[in-house]
Parts: sequence; C-alpha cells; structure tokens
Amino acid sequence: MNRFYITTPIYYVNAEPHIGHAYTTIVADVMNRFQKMTGRTTFFLTGTDEHGDKIAQAARASGIAPKEYADRISGLFRKTWPKLGVENDKFIRTTDPEHVKTVQYVLQKVYDAGEIYFSTYKGLYCVGCERFYMERELVDGKCPDHDTVPVEREESNYFFKMSKYQDWLIEHLKSHPDCIRPERYRNEVLSFLREPLEDLCISRPAERLDWGIPLPFDRKYVTYVWFDALLNYVSALGYPDGELFGEFWPVAQHLVAKDILKPHGIYWPTMLKAAGIPMYQHLNVHGYWKTEEGKMSKSHGTVVRPLDLAPVYGLDAFRYFLLREMVFGLDANFSREALVARINADLANDLGNLFSRTLAMTERYFEGNIPPFSSEADERDRDMQGKAENALRIFREEMPALGFHKALAAIWECIGAANKYIDSVAPWNLAKDEGLLPRLKTVMRTLLEVNAIVAVLISPFMPETSSRMLERLGIEKNPSELRLDRDAVWGTLAEGKKVVKGESLFPRVETEGKKAEKPAQAPKKAETAKKVEEPGAPRIDIDLFRQVDLRVGLVLSAEKVPQSEKLMKLVVDIGEKRQIVAGIAKTHSPAELVGKQVVLVANLKPAKLMGIESHGMILAVRDGNDLKLIVPEAKVAPGGRIS
Ligand code: MSP
Repeated sequence: MNRFYITTPIYYVNAEPHIGHAYTTIVADVMNRFQKMTGRTTFFLTGTDEHGDKIAQAARASGIAPKEYADRISGLFRKTWPKLGVENDKFIRTTDPEHVKTVQYVLQKVYDAGEIYFSTYKGLYCVGCERFYMERELVDGKCPDHDTVPVEREESNYFFKMSKYQDWLIEHLKSHPDCIRPERYRNEVLSFLREPLEDLCISRPAERLDWGIPLPFDRKYVTYVWFDALLNYVSALGYPDGELFGEFWPVAQHLVAKDILKPHGIYWPTMLKAAGIPMYQHLNVHGYWKTEEGKMSKSHGTVVRPLDLAPVYGLDAFRYFLLREMVFGLDANFSREALVARINADLANDLGNLFSRTLAMTERYFEGNIPPFSSEADERDRDMQGKAENALRIFREEMPALGFHKALAAIWECIGAANKYIDSVAPWNLAKDEGLLPRLKTVMRTLLEVNAIVAVLISPFMPETSSRMLERLGIEKNPSELRLDRDAVWGTLAEGKKVVKGESLFPRVETEGKKAEKPAQAPKKAETAKKVEEPGAPRIDIDLFRQVDLRVGLVLSAEKVPQSEKLMKLVVDIGEKRQIVAGIAKTHSPAELVGKQVVLVANLKPAKLMGIESHGMILAVRDGNDLKLIVPEAKVAPGGRIS
C-alpha cells in the first residue's frame, strides 16, 4: 500500500512544549518526510490532550476556565511545530466536536456489544496519573511516577472488559514480532501480559470531574481521559466513515516514548479489538531525554525548551542533534555542550567545509559551471562514488527501521571520505597543469555529485540546509519534491548549470566559558585569510589548533651557532628554561635578542639542529628578506599561555 500514517502522542496541555515533545514530533516529521521521498502519500497527525483531572486542576491553579486554559496551551504547541520545521497534516484537539462525536460513537458501540459494564470499585487513586493503583504497583506505598501517596477512593463506575482480550493480544504480538518496536518494548509489554490483565475503568463521575466527554449511555459520567485520548488516532481520520480512515488506518504507525507504553501497548489494542477496528501496524517507542541533573522536571527547573535552542543554534542544527545523538529506543543526555560540539564538528567542520570547498573550487576553476566527467574515473574516484552509494543504501535500509542515527552516521562517513578525497587528489595541484584539465573536471564533478547526494539524503533531517544546498548546486527543486529513486542518483547534476558558493552553511558556535553562545548567523564576509588560501585547502578544527601550546618567553641568552649562517642558540624563560635553536642569525644579533619577549611553540617534539637540541620554536613573520619576530603588545609574565 502506497500510504503512510504517522502519529505523535497528543500532548497534555498542562505544560509548555519541551525538548521531549520536540523530539517525538521532529522524529515523526523526519519519518514522514522520508516516506514522501519514497513516493508514498502520507498523513502526519499531532495534537493536544485536553480533558481530565490534571488539566482541570492546572486551569483552576491559573484561575481560568478549563477550555480557555486548554486553548492557550494548545495554541502554544500548535505554534511551536512550524518553528521547528515540522509539517504536520492535522493538529487535533480532544475538545474538537468531531473527536467528541467519535469517542461517543465508539463508547456506544462497545457498550452495545456488551463489552462495558457498571460496577463499584474501591481502591487507591493517584490524581497525577488519573488512575487507580494496585498495592503491588506502588513503591513504598507511593505512586512510582509522582512519588505521592495515592488517596483511597470508592466509586461506582463503568468498566471495559479489557481482560477478555489478553490472550488475543499476546497472540497478536507473538505473530507480529515487529508490531511494537524496538524489541525491548515488545518484550516489556509481553512480560506485563504474563500477569492477569484487569478490566479498565473508563468513566469518572461527573459530579467530581465534569471536564470530560459525557458517556453517551449515562450522562452522570464522563469518559476516562485515556479512553478519550487514544481515540484521537481514528477520530482525526474521520472514523467511522471518513475517507481518510479507509485510506490511512490500514498503515497506521504510532510514535511515543516509553512513559506511555502501557496505554498504547495494552489499552489501545484491546479497545480497537472491542470496537471492531483493525489493529495498528506499528507502535514505535523511544527513550527519554535527560539532562545532567536527571529527569527533566518543571519543579527542578531542568526543563529544556526547544524554542530557547532552535533560534540560537539554528533550527536544522537542533534537529540534526536530536536525531544524531539519540539511539532510537534508548535514553540520551541533553547538554548544550554536546549540541555545540556536534554543530562545530559535524556541521561547521565536516559538512560546511565540504560544501564550501567544493563550490569555491568550482567557481575558481570553472567559473561555477558544473563540469562533465572528462576522464576515465580512477580508483579514488570510483571509491568516492562507492562511498556515496553506500551512504544511500544504508539510508534506505535504516530510515524505515528507525535507525536514524545510523543513517546520519553513514551520510557523515561519506562526507568525511569526501573531505579526505579532496586532500588526497589536491585539485589545486591539478589546476596548475593545463594537461590535467580533464582530470580536474572529473574530480570536481565527482565532488559535486557527492554534495548533491548529501543534499538529498539530509533533507528529511535538515530541510532548510538541504534547500540551500540544492539551490546553490543548481538543482531547481525544494526538499519536499525530492524522490529517492530519481534524485539520489549518481550523475544527475545538470551540466551547463552554475553553482554559487554563497555564505557558509553552518558558522561555528563560539563559547566563552560554559554558558555563552552566539546567534547562528552566517558571517557577513568571508575572512581575509580565504583570499590567500587555496579554496579547497583543508581547514583545521579549532580543537586541533588548541593543541598547540603557545607561550610568551623572555630571551635570557643568545649566541650564534658556530659554522652556521642562520642558526642562533637561545635560552628562553617560559616559566622554565628552554634551549632553542632558531633560524634568525641572519636578521638578528645576539645583543638585540637578549631581554626581548618572544612567542614560542612550547610543545613541539624536540629536534637536533647542527647537533644542538632545540626544545621549541620561535614565531616570526617573513617580510621580503627580513624576518620580524612576533612579540606581545606589552611586557607580560614569562610563560603566559597564548589563547
Ligand atoms: N496525553 C498523553 C498522551 C496521549 S496519546 C493518546 C501524554 N502527554 S504528555 O504531554 O505527557 O506527552 C508524553 C510524550 O511526550 C512522551 O510519550 C514523549 O513522546 C514526549 N516526551 C515527554 N518528555 C520526554 C522526554 N523527557 N524525553 C523524550 N520524550 C518525552 O502522555
């Protein structure tokens, strides 16, 4: 079936969107964009969960009516998603009249089928979870999620005969091994099903809680919030008779975090079965984002808000980080340091450099015109093509299997290989020889093709960057029009089109100390250094530069090395005494050196010059035949580290 339907949980409106909500919603967006690239017609649903005790309480605390309160927070969620590049097809609210209608329809249907009964129940109730707990589920007598003592409550309520479906569900999960993915969560559900399943209380007395959907067969009760919320997945498609339902329900996939595995892995399948609705295809379950302090919690002030990050570090960088850093299914840690490290290493350095080097050389050597393959590919060219095609193969395999980090790692392996390919073929050397022009064309075309494939493959993750890359590569398509079969193909770039170098894709994020950060704006002008540098010459990462230990030194003594015109032996104080042999005897006399401050590379491997050991190197700049020493602006303490 050439359809794809993906849903996120509908988020409670008692808290503002945070990075956990953002992750799920962005993953759904990435999955959806990928499926579109394979030619499928897709439907992507998200929304808000607005009924129940929790919301009623939060509204009361804010001093406003529940609906007004829900409108406000639901609006925040709705407005957040486009800002994170999320393109959902529908945003559902459980207060939507169509949803209410579907919930009442299903309740009536299941009630009429005899699957709902009335009974009195006495038990321990957690307000935070909105459910009764069994003694054995409590930890030290407290709710495991909220760490609060549940209150004793007796109620007459309606119950759904969930227990009746236990065997069917076990059988279904056994015969559909990839129904709940990854496997650890399927096992978790199966192990839960080893204990006898209880029936599910699906109502709340309206006199206690009126913020809910009235039961169609007893108006003195409202619907339990999970029974209400889960039905959003079908009400959004217009169940029972909406056209969308017929089209998309057969391919339904849900995406949730592990916190709501039980309602999705147990309540929902049994509800579907009782209502005569086919089972969903997949439940995809991911882990939790944690901060250094542990679980994200509002009360501890450890909530990370996506809109505090994306505008500062760049939307695509944020999306990339989330998908690259978390192994789907496992927990991951969030820190700004990790985010910045990824931006600088993977984006600014690897991808940004590859793209700007490739385009700068194409501009320099061919005035931006995309050259044809003009010579027989050699082994390195074929190897490069192989790397790009390998990335494509892994991408195709991993994306539908939730291996997002693996797909990205494969793309980045290709990017790394391309940067190495540039260093190894050194196009700037080919450009020096007319006779090597066909070879230069082939090399540059190879590189341009790699960049084009990368631009296509990153599009589900980084649609903005993909779009900028495509445009500058002369590909007149936007990311949503890309098709894997047609566009991620070697050799598809259009000859005769021009490429445009433009600004760098990802400026580095400079951090001063731990907290500071710079807005992710492209730099205004290329640095002057670029003018004198070969456009494709390798750039080094700042971390590499930081490994160079530069110190201010005071020259204590200086004498010419016998039998050498150039060499001078110096003893320099850098907090310790260092003997150095420097090639400055032609331009400097010992007398003018003693007492002078110099800059020294302090962690060079020792070398022997004319049999004399040298433990460092002095920095100088050549000026014609002259040599000028680099010195500090004013006297500083010897040994001062240069940063
Ligand atoms: N309203 C219910 C869901 C009903 S679906 C029929 C609910 N809402 S929620 O607002 O609490 O959202 C829970 C979901 O938000 C998780 O399943 C996950 O998708 C996302 N996350 C919330 N915090 C998270 C992390 N710290 N890490 C990862 N995702 C998390 O439950």
